Amino acid sequence: MKPQHVLIDTDTGVDDALALVFALRSPELVIEAITTVAGNVGVRKCTRNVLRILNLVRSMHVPRVAEGSPKPLYRPLVTAPEVHGRDGLGDVPSRRRIAGLAEAVRRNAVREILDACDRFGDRLTIIALGPLTNIAKAWRKNAESLRKVGRIISMGGAFRVPGNTGPVAEFNYFVDPEAADQILTSGLPVRVIPLDLTETIILHWHELRKRARKEGSELSRFLIRCTKHYMSYHRKTRGFFGGYLHDPVAVAAAIDQNLFTWRTMEVRIETRGIWTRGMSVEPSHGRGRASVAVAQTLSHRRFLKLFTSRIWNEAHG
Ligand code: BDR
Ligand code: CA
Repeated sequence: MKPQHVLIDTDTGVDDALALVFALRSPELVIEAITTVAGNVGVRKCTRNVLRILNLVRSMHVPRVAEGSPKPLYRPLVTAPEVHGRDGLGDVPSRRRIAGLAEAVRRNAVREILDACDRFGDRLTIIALGPLTNIAKAWRKNAESLRKVGRIISMGGAFRVPGNTGPVAEFNYFVDPEAADQILTSGLPVRVIPLDLTETIILHWHELRKRARKEGSELSRFLIRCTKHYMSYHRKTRGFFGGYLHDPVAVAAAIDQNLFTWRTMEVRIETRGIWTRGMSVEPSHGRGRASVAVAQTLSHRRFLKLFTSRIWNEAHG
């Protein structure tokens, strides 16, 4: 099968970083561009983090990096330093100069998204790992170009599980509910990977450390150090020393949609609630205009095998 053209939009925290390594090391995907959006941390930190990861992974095909929105469409930014560290990558100091920052800052994420849609049309997959601000801005700027996209895979939403940002909302849709609601009602070919599924996939600290030590590369040493903060957060709040693989699950959907089962439904995101901001709702109980495919189940065994083999560069049987 021919590799797919991919643009990744990310608010580069720890699970985003794992998702980037997973995507960059997957031969099914050609990562054409990476755009950044404010979320887990401020957007400039996200841009630095992407460049840091690219520097460590050194893929054959180097994606263009472009900085995006510094804040949600209408609201002040909410970040998550307690989960990802103040810098978004577990506060591991970097001794290297970050190459390519000035160029990435000069580029414009919305333009990059629209250009990729024009260039690759329905052969393009957008994987959105953060708030949907950049995608909503692209939609507002040029709906005709965005409509050419093959699919948009968005990690976000919580349907039948409690939220991870307040009682009912998932972080990405909480941060920019207006952007999420706009994209999920746009009629664009959107696939949603909700918390319901991603909170069933855990990477345990002992497993990560064992594999990383075996690989012994600069990247694996970095992964041990940068995930420690994220995993300690889960130990404090969830009682296990490990981390949810939210964003890598979205990458897996781009590699092989058939690892999942899907249900097409109408999805709205609460934008007015005082206590329910960012909540994912199916308003019509199956009778409305169903247009969003929401992942329902995932083969854990196949996912973990794929993820592990790619992250650690092993042959995938
Ligand atoms: C999502 O929120 C962020 O903190 C993670 O990177 C992931 O994209 C999970 O709710
Ligand atoms: Ca993310």
